[in-house]
Amino acid sequence: MVSLDHIRGQFPILEREVHGQKLVYLDSAASSQKPQVVLDAMATAYTRSYANVHRGLHTLSEESTDAYENTRKKVQGLINAPSHDEVVFTSGATMSLNIIARSWGGANLTAGDEILISVADHHANIVPWQMIAQEKGAIIKAAPVNPDGSVSLEVITSMITDRTRVVAMPHVSNVLGTVYPVEDIAKAAHAKGAVFVLDGCQGVVHMPVDVQAIDCDFYVFSGHKLYGPSGIGVLWGKMALLEDMPPFLGGGDMIDRVSIESSTYAPPPQRFEAGTPPIVETIGLGAAIDFVQSIGMDSIRDHELELLNYAHQQLASVDGLEFIGTAPGKSGVVSFTLDCAHPHDISTIVDRKGVAIRAGHHCAQPLMDFMGLPSTARASVGVYTNRADIDALVGALGTVRKIFG
Ligand code: ALA
Repeated sequence: MVSLDHIRGQFPILEREVHGQKLVYLDSAASSQKPQVVLDAMATAYTRSYANVHRGLHTLSEESTDAYENTRKKVQGLINAPSHDEVVFTSGATMSLNIIARSWGGANLTAGDEILISVADHHANIVPWQMIAQEKGAIIKAAPVNPDGSVSLEVITSMITDRTRVVAMPHVSNVLGTVYPVEDIAKAAHAKGAVFVLDGCQGVVHMPVDVQAIDCDFYVFSGHKLYGPSGIGVLWGKMALLEDMPPFLGGGDMIDRVSIESSTYAPPPQRFEAGTPPIVETIGLGAAIDFVQSIGMDSIRDHELELLNYAHQQLASVDGLEFIGTAPGKSGVVSFTLDCAHPHDISTIVDRKGVAIRAGHHCAQPLMDFMGLPSTARASVGVYTNRADIDALVGALGTVRKIFG
């Protein structure tokens, strides 16, 4: 792996101080920081070759279009998609999931159909399904998690019935860190003729992803968690499914021919990219993909797993700390509670020590209900996280204990 100091040196924000303390950023699961190459790529796009894409025959538009379309190929490589035409750019994973639910679900769901989600899904992979289910008379079922946060393939499989049309799960839980057995769930879903939708937000940032090996039908993620900008996300889908889906938004760039009476639509991916897209954000995402691939997703996974183990070891020494989510092979996040303080108080006090963590329900209220918790504190790791960051968190939790304990 490229040296950690070298990697950290590429993130200018890590130089700053918060409350007079060196920033310790342990909230990458909410949004990651950006390396200089991403900032430079976006600045260059604006200062050198900015123009609208797919519309101009002039040099700047051609350069802009090339850079935009190059990101599609980079995404294809990152997730090993069969074709770059299966890569749809959206504003983020939430938009991607809304498009799938509304467009695929709207065309394919009927009354009595079942949609199987997980209690650990993020709201973005729950609410869009509820909305379309209400409209169509479909039924939502939710697969449980075990007390340690692991999931049972047997239980999930037993909940996929002849009426199941969609199985929508997280690749990795944003609260528990549990890595779902996605290849096996895909097989179980397909055995019953259901499509398998994966929320890859916390997957693609931490490990190599191969959508062909997983054999999911849709895989979505957001750029801003992958060291890229906000406002850009990806919807990957199998071409046969995308081709049959009606557009989600109508407008420029998604059409074939428009008359006053009616319109015909462009094939995917353009069919789902109405209007001027987030051009520079897409170019920034391309630079972010180059950045992670220059390190290697295998190396990133190994580095983060080592740190996560270290975090578990060190945090275990904090009195009254309970881990929420200890599934074997977990990835990316450490959620916990302290017996003496509310997660919001924990987060506020460690911030005074320069340590940024997230506290709350993490957009996973059904999981909190299921586990009987109002909220948790959550530290999450990224490519730049080092042991000193974990040590700083443990030290700051000592201060929390002093104040509340
Ligand atoms: N879904 C993001 C998180 O887990 C915002 O923090």
